[in-house]
Parts: sequence; C-alpha cells; structure tokens
Amino acid sequence: MRYKGIILAGGNGTRLHPMTIAVSKQLIPVYDKPMIFYPLSVLMDAGIRQVLIITKPEEAYLFQRLLGDGSNWGISIEYAEQPKPAGIAQGLFIAEEFLAGAPSVLILGDNIFYGSNFTQKVCKAMTENIGAFILPYKVRDPSQYGVLELDVSGRIQNIVEKPKKPPSNLAVPGLYILDETAPKKAKELVPSGRGELEITDLLNIYLAEKKLKYCVLDRGTAWLDTGTTESLLEASMFVQAIEKRQGHKIACLEEISLNKNFQLISSLHPCAFAEW
Ligand code: G1P
Repeated sequence: MRYKGIILAGGNGTRLHPMTIAVSKQLIPVYDKPMIFYPLSVLMDAGIRQVLIITKPEEAYLFQRLLGDGSNWGISIEYAEQPKPAGIAQGLFIAEEFLAGAPSVLILGDNIFYGSNFTQKVCKAMTENIGAFILPYKVRDPSQYGVLELDVSGRIQNIVEKPKKPPSNLAVPGLYILDETAPKKAKELVPSGRGELEITDLLNIYLAEKKLKYCVLDRGTAWLDTGTTESLLEASMFVQAIEKRQGHKIACLEEISLNKNFQLISSLHPCAFAEW
C-alpha cells in the first residue's frame, strides 16, 4: 500500500515568542517561504501525494489559506486538528482515519532537511521499512532531541528523549517512516513526565518487536532546527546562501510537482490519488 504523509504543525512555539503568539511557528518564514513548505517538499520529493496537516484548531484556516487542497501542485492536502499539543505520537491516532491502514511518513513541520542524497535515503527507507525506520544525524549537542543508544556492533539498545547525559551524538530528526500499525501502537502509550505521548516511546515499542531500522544521515545532509530565534535565523541564512550561490530554490513546490509529473498524472487520471 502506498505511503501517506503527515505533517505535525501544532505546538505553541513558546521559544519563539513573541513571533509565534499570533502566527503559528510553521507559517513564519524561513528566508523566502513559510516554514511548512520545507517538510511538505520532503514528502513530495519522496513521491507522496496524500498529505494530512495537523494544526491547532484556531490556526487551521491559516494553513488552508496558504496551501488549499494541494491541487496547485497536483497533490491532495487534508487537515485535522490537535486540540492541545500532547505529543508527536498523538498525531498518529488523530491521523488514523486519514491513513485508513496505510503506512506513513510523519514529519515535524519545523524540521528542515537538505542534501544531495537525502531523498534517495528517505525513499530507500520507505522501501526497506518493516516496522519503523529513522534517519539519525550526528550533532554536537544532542541533549534537546531523542538520542540513540547503540551497542558495540551498532544495534539500537534504546532511544532516550532529551537525555541530560546523551548516550551518543546521534539525534533522531523529526522524520519517521512508519508501518500501518503505528496508530494502534500510539494508543498504547502513556504520557511522559512532560505530559506528552513521546515519539521515542513509540519507537521503543518497535525496537522491542525488533522492527526498528535506521540509517545515519551523513555529513552531506543538512538537518536544521528552527526551535529558537538563533536557529531560525541560521536556517534562513543557510537557505539564502545556497539559493543565492547556486541559483536554484530549496523547497520549490512547483518545481517538485513539475519534475514528478504530479499535475500531469492527476489530469490524466481523475482517480489518481487512490492509486498514488
Ligand atoms: C521532538 C521529539 C524528539 C526529536 C525532535 C526532532 O522534540 O520529541 O525526539 O528528536 O522532535 O526535532 P521536541 O520538538 O518535542 O523538542
């Protein structure tokens, strides 16, 4: 069955106040386009054409005004609401009806990825996935993320959420390739100390079933955080530097749609979304 995409765009973005008091974090610009264009481009690049965007109820209309039903790019975009931010894993059971038994690629609306072989890695992970697949990334300070604990032969022992003493430098980015059992598994979770249904707990369920795979994103890939004013500015400057130097746009939805023939496919086959 074909993968469907989920973008999580709820959350209060408190670390970016006052910028995010009136406007959702995922709608503020990263250089020349709204932040959500970046994760949406990741899904489109991976060939995903059915996307669910999960937002806070009061902000849903803003995302709809920006992205509509996706037909501008030959994709289908639906919306669902998360009444209160209660963790990434909650997004999965909000998405259960939309997924209708399909596997998913879940991406956080504030994660930015860029790199020459990044899309190939995501597509390979989608093909090879037998449960959950993650793409860890080496960072200098992993303490703000989910972090891998590995044994000497590189097998995952545990994934720890925001550890004070990180067991490795491998952070887990907000991009999760999940099989169709994810919503059911997410319902088994109990809230963590910070009151959230943690994605790391969900990944640890897959690990216990020996169904968690990983492939490290190498140094040729950029994974950028946009959680603080400083990292947001750095992400904008990164996008500006690449676009200015190379003369092409990052996360240009029209270009991806054109390269992938998304428009052509939907105009040739009115029922194409069922197939794609
Ligand atoms: C969340 C996840 C964490 C992951 C991170 C990636 O953290 O809980 O495991 O590494 O996203 O951005 P949060 O956004 O809640 O700080």
